[in-house]
Amino acid sequence: MSAPGLLSGQRDDWPSVRCREVSLSKIAAGATPSATLTLDAKAKQLVRQGAPVVLFTVGEPDFDTPDNIKQAAHRAIQGGFTKYTAAGGMPELRRAIAEKLKEDNGLDYAADEVLVSNGGKQAIFMIMLCLVQEGDEVLLPSPYWVSYADQARICGAEPTAIDTTETADFKLTPEALEKAIAERSKVLVLNTPCNPTGVVLTRDELAPLVEVALAHDLWILSDEIYEKIIYDGLKHVSAGSLSDEARQRVITINGFSKTYAMTGWRVGYAAGPREVIQAAVNIQSNTTSAPNSIAQKAALEALTGPQDSVGEMREAFDRRRRLLVEGLNAIPGISCLMPQGAFYAFADCRGLLGRSYRGKCVETSHDLCAALLDQVQVAVIEGSAFGAEGYVRFSYATSTEVIAAGLERLRQFVAGRDS
Ligand SMILES: Cc1ncc(COP(=O)(O)O)c(C=O)c1O
Repeated sequence: MSAPGLLSGQRDDWPSVRCREVSLSKIAAGATPSATLTLDAKAKQLVRQGAPVVLFTVGEPDFDTPDNIKQAAHRAIQGGFTKYTAAGGMPELRRAIAEKLKEDNGLDYAADEVLVSNGGKQAIFMIMLCLVQEGDEVLLPSPYWVSYADQARICGAEPTAIDTTETADFKLTPEALEKAIAERSKVLVLNTPCNPTGVVLTRDELAPLVEVALAHDLWILSDEIYEKIIYDGLKHVSAGSLSDEARQRVITINGFSKTYAMTGWRVGYAAGPREVIQAAVNIQSNTTSAPNSIAQKAALEALTGPQDSVGEMREAFDRRRRLLVEGLNAIPGISCLMPQGAFYAFADCRGLLGRSYRGKCVETSHDLCAALLDQVQVAVIEGSAFGAEGYVRFSYATSTEVIAAGLERLRQFVAGRDS
């Protein structure tokens, strides 16, 4: 019997034959799956098959969504709040986000300058679609979150990495930015706190970058999704709050996934000048219609309800951060800066490359990740996925027991070196 969806006589074990008959659009043909999601899915598949894999791949809090948020969703369902909302998000939520941005971030936006989307990732995409097209260039301080590059490409634009170095704490300098800006440069992406490095830009570091970008008439896409996961008493600074001019050229991105452990609910947002946001609403109204109504009610409760869980999660991440980074730095061949935000450690593993482990040659961060998974069942993400070969990203959004077990396996792996 043929699989559902196949015409009778078609066989589902002929994918290559069927693929050859499909003439995909240029965009679809060039699209690649998200590297982080792919590696995470592969590791989770092994776990489902019973392999005792230690997962350092996940980009989501391991905590459950706080109960008050879940209750708000229950009330939405029971109360029949199950219809389409306004395309840009329900007005109460847009207003609550505008208030939050004012109070927390010093950003003055009206409710109709806020777009609510199906996650921060979609909000970024809607904004990219509004701002860039074929021939444009999107500047990405490297290491960078993978999806910026892929989304720019989907829009027909070219992502251009601006390398930062570990010796400069992975921080982009105004000089390096100035040098990288070309005629076609249209958007600069800033991500503080940063995935994958955990770097947090201070006001003094951010201000000159914004100044250079504004002097060249760039748009700034400021991804602040990890703003509440920040350590050592540092304060998050929003690029758009730095001046009136910045307010006109910065699109602020944020969401509920990380701060409130709501990755599966899919709610995020963008805030910026009305013309850009209205254009994004128009695109959204023709693509997804609106974000999920129930999840929007949950997001409203997340913003307006008790905030204790945010601090509790941050404290837990902080303890895990120290355990992981101190453990990594004690392993010969690995060194890792202490991240100041988010829940990732970006470790320099170049000292482990160019060697063989139990007969397996490890030349690149890709080889290293494959060997770690194969030999000691530790799943991590190769730095090349973030534009930084030789590095490996560890997510510490997992328990201290898992972190301790993972470190022990890493030590065993390194001890198994042949040469
Ligand atoms: C830097 C960064 N921005 C945006 C997102 C998007 O998150 P979401 O779409 O779940 O809101 C992520 C998720 O991993 C991220 O790491």
